[in-house]
Amino acid sequence: MSLKITVIGTGYLGATHAAAMAELGFEVLGLDVVPEKIAMLKRGEVPMYEPGLEELLSRHVEGLEGSSGRLRFTLDWAEAAEFGDVHFVCVNTPQKHGEYAADMSYVDAAFASLAPHLTGPALVVGKSTVPVGSADRLAACLAEHAPAGTDAELAWNPEFLREGFAVEDTLHPDRIVVGVRSERAEKLLREVYATPVGEGTPFVVTDFPTAELVKTSANSFLATKISFINAMAEVCEAAGGDVAKLAEAIGYDDRIGKKFLRAGIGFGGGCLPKDIRAFMARAGELGADQALTFLREIDSINMRRRGQMVEMAREALGGGSFLGKRVAVLGAAFKPDSDDVRDSPALNVAGQIHLQGGQVTVYDPKGMDNARRVFPTLGYAPTALDAVRGADVVLHLTEWREFRELDPAVLGEEAAAKLILDGRNALDPEVWRRAGWTYRAMGRPTA
Ligand code: UDX
Repeated sequence: MSLKITVIGTGYLGATHAAAMAELGFEVLGLDVVPEKIAMLKRGEVPMYEPGLEELLSRHVEGLEGSSGRLRFTLDWAEAAEFGDVHFVCVNTPQKHGEYAADMSYVDAAFASLAPHLTGPALVVGKSTVPVGSADRLAACLAEHAPAGTDAELAWNPEFLREGFAVEDTLHPDRIVVGVRSERAEKLLREVYATPVGEGTPFVVTDFPTAELVKTSANSFLATKISFINAMAEVCEAAGGDVAKLAEAIGYDDRIGKKFLRAGIGFGGGCLPKDIRAFMARAGELGADQALTFLREIDSINMRRRGQMVEMAREALGGGSFLGKRVAVLGAAFKPDSDDVRDSPALNVAGQIHLQGGQVTVYDPKGMDNARRVFPTLGYAPTALDAVRGADVVLHLTEWREFRELDPAVLGEEAAAKLILDGRNALDPEVWRRAGWTYRAMGRPTA
């Protein structure tokens, strides 16, 4: 008989994981504590923009026309506990307010709510990004709160999905990492992931701390690559070099690789910034803070880029105050193909210029609603063209394909000045310059 799977927490990670598990052929029950979220999911809708996710859900949510019916949702812990052979915990671990550490309250609440209702020999699998050592602690919590004789067990299985590619990354991951303490747990997880493993996805079996650390170290490495190239951009700016050429040239070395070497206003989002901070906080608790002091530098290089973009805009406008200047901002999401504005470098730059008196108008293909919610005092325009109308300077801050495909000649008719600053090094300088624009980018010489 096929395994039954519950997914606890139906945010980004959980909704995608639940739909992917149904796609792999399992009966799935998703649980969340937010009734509005469950109501949406039951209609096959997702509360965020993620390419392909609604289609995937609609193919499986029970009651929708033509669906497999393998995916259901509930608010009821007892129902979820009874349903699953394997329970994936996918709740989020945001940065604690005013601290570097991760807020574990949602994870702790999920375990405390699920465990007392377990009825059989369940495997509970943590997927959330947690400080190393959490799995050991949660295993003890499970043993304490699960009814006697249920033989509940914990495993840790970090998730590496990227926003904008969540469906693809979940169905075809680079690797599957499982932290287990028994052959039974490994066997069950091999069963869950039989399809991707059968297609050649590596399956790495390890202990709890290593599984937890794989996730935080992978994100730290990615953050390090971005801040490295941004540090090189700073040096290029001082020395008159071109960071885009530099990245291309060092990227030909396979050991370095081309990816994650695009200099600009740096990384944001709900993962990289908070994960490296939580990692530093945890290392401090473990007495290993010296090992991660470099992450403090990675974080500060990253945060510095935002201020440098603001200064670049000020200089391009002739120096002095932003008062009376009209600034068009293309991009609000922290990255393209996402409507997520959490810790968005684009919105941060827009906000700084606004607070310094600039008249800022933002356009983003998908992130407008979220941007308006967190920054209601900025100006917003319904299209890129509207945002650019009358602008003294255009800032390109999130590298949506739509922006790469803009016609600079058409935009040039609307702007007050043909001045564009590329904060993502993603536009083609030649195309813009040919259309009469002054094009400047971070870490590149002004032509
Ligand atoms: C990241 C990890 O990539 C993923 O494996 C993990 O599971 C969650 O965190 P995500 O937050 O979706 O995923 O974003 P990612 O694609 O990593 O980009 C992060 C930020 O770095 C974005 O703001 C992006 O614009 C920026 N970035 C990326 C650069 O500034 N330069 C680059 O070369 C690449």
